[in-house]
Parts: sequence; structure tokens; C-alpha cells
Amino acid sequence: MRTLKAAYEEGKDGMFIWELKGKIVGWSWLRIYENEFFKEGTYGEINEIYIVPEWRGKGIGNILMKHAEDWFRNKGIKTVRVEALATNEKALAFYRKHGFKPNYITLQKEISNIQKDDNSKTYHELSEKKVLKEHMQRESKQNGVFLSTVKR
Ligand SMILES: CC(C)(COP(=O)(O)OP(=O)(O)OC[C@H]1O[C@@H](n2cnc3c(N)ncnc32)[C@H](O)[C@@H]1OP(=O)(O)O)[C@@H](O)C(=O)NCCC(=O)NCCS
Repeated sequence: MRTLKAAYEEGKDGMFIWELKGKIVGWSWLRIYENEFFKEGTYGEINEIYIVPEWRGKGIGNILMKHAEDWFRNKGIKTVRVEALATNEKALAFYRKHGFKPNYITLQKEISNIQKDDNSKTYHELSEKKVLKEHMQRESKQNGVFLSTVKR
């Protein structure tokens, strides 16, 4: 586990607590990610911008967003991402106002209570015939990636 101190010293995290007249009004946590699989390569992510409830709607979020963009820009970052719950309409409106547009969309489903059905039989038949295994081995060879899940 990374400590906050280690993360700070690494220089890829910006963690800021914001005060106004001696009172904490919000915080922001920014991070730089290096990912060779994304076409953008290195990119910035807003892990969180949080305004204390009684200070919301007073323009502080706008100021923190301006600061976040300046912080990333000064580090040479050209693309910035943020994740928000699909139900968090205020946050989505806030990010839209600042020019963020949907890129990847995460889809989620609860599967814990779903009983096995005929589909699982199909899956096992596929595996027994080694179709899946052979397909994955072929893929892994092409991509140079070792897939441990092919072992059955
Ligand atoms: C989302 C959040 C950061 C906005 O900060 P804020 O200080 O309240 O926002 P501002 O007052 O600076 O408003 C900026 C813009 O956000 C949008 N916005 C803010 N509150 C809104 C609301 N209740 N409904 C719709 N849009 C809203 C508006 O477009 C507004 O534009 P304007 O400046 O032209 O009015 C703040 O509400 C918050 O901390 N929410 C809880 C934590 C959270 O959800 N964070 C984001 C996910 S990580």
C-alpha cells in the first residue's frame, strides 16, 4: 500500500485541502497515470473534487477545477479524465460545464444472486471441446500475453 507521503514525494499526486477564512471548504486530489495501452498515453485524472456541503454552489468548485487544469498543464498533461457515478447529476453537470465529455462508459451488473442457467452449460461445453482454450492460446501467442485462465 502506498502511503500519502510516498505518493506526494513521487510527484504524481496533487493533494490539496482548501481553506477560506480559516475554515476547510473543500479538497482536491489529482493524479497522473501512465498507461501505454491508452492512445492518450500519460493522462491526468481528477480522483476527487469535494466541496463541503455548506460551501457548494458558491463558485468554489469552479476555482478548484481551474487550479486542477493549471496543475496538470504545468506537468505537461494534455488529457484529463474524471469518473463520477451515473446518478450524480450535480457532479456530471459540473464536469460538463467544464468541457468534459463521455469517453469510456463503465457498465455494471449485480451477479451474486443469479442462479446458473443454461448459458453456463453452454460455457462448459465450449471449454470441454477446448474451443475456448485453443482460441485463447492463439490470442495469447499473437498478443504476447500469458493468460493463466486457459488452464482447466
Ligand atoms: C460537484 C461539486 C464539486 C461542484 O462544486 P460547487 O462549488 O458546488 O460548484 P460551483 O458553485 O463552482 O458551480 C460550478 C458549476 O457546476 C454546476 N453545478 C454546481 N452545482 C450544481 C447543481 N446543484 N445542479 C446542477 N449544476 C450544478 C453548474 O454548472 C455550475 O455552473 P455556474 O458556475 O455557471 O453556476 C460539489 O457539488 C461537490 O463537492 N459535490 C459532492 C462531491 C462530488 O460529487 N464530487 C464530484 C465527484 S468526484
